[in-house]
Amino acid sequence: MSVLKIARMGHPVLQQIARPVADPSHPAVHRLAADMLETLDDIGGLGLAAPQVHESVRVVIFHVPGADDELGPTTVLVNPVIEPLSDQIELGWEGCLSVPGLRGEVPRHAHIGYRGLSLNGETIEREAEGYHARVVQHECDHLDGILYPQRMTDLSRLIFESEMRRYMEAREDPGAERQEDAAQ
Ligand code: NI
Repeated sequence: MSVLKIARMGHPVLQQIARPVADPSHPAVHRLAADMLETLDDIGGLGLAAPQVHESVRVVIFHVPGADDELGPTTVLVNPVIEPLSDQIELGWEGCLSVPGLRGEVPRHAHIGYRGLSLNGETIEREAEGYHARVVQHECDHLDGILYPQRMTDLSRLIFESEMRRYMEAREDPGAERQEDAAQ
């Protein structure tokens, strides 16, 4: 296994539509997923999509947030598909390993269903709300060449991570403090 280099905003691989994986059980896919897991573990963050490590294929990994905001188990999802389950849109702060140093407030579907394949080719199908739903939408956007700033509707809410505390204090808006480690 190895820690992989992260593509940063502006690299063409982040703007491509990633191709579907024909066989999730292929050793090359397992190797890619293992390297992505090691990379995410090394850098820290909630999730990672294959295009971020220069592989334009439809593979994402993410931690499912657990109780008390602890990092939960990691999911590897191949060829994921998302379906919104309500019209409700929520604003929340996000970061991205491909957009280092920045945080932005992004509208996302509050309640989604998602499905995809495991590395064994088994179907994974779940419903997600809140931060879980947000992480999955963020990672799957990477597979369609979309970075979170492209989803933002108010770019005055795109700020440097190092200014986050001051920004929130100035607005008496403590809502984002817990998202400080939310790089994806
Ligand atoms: Ni990201």
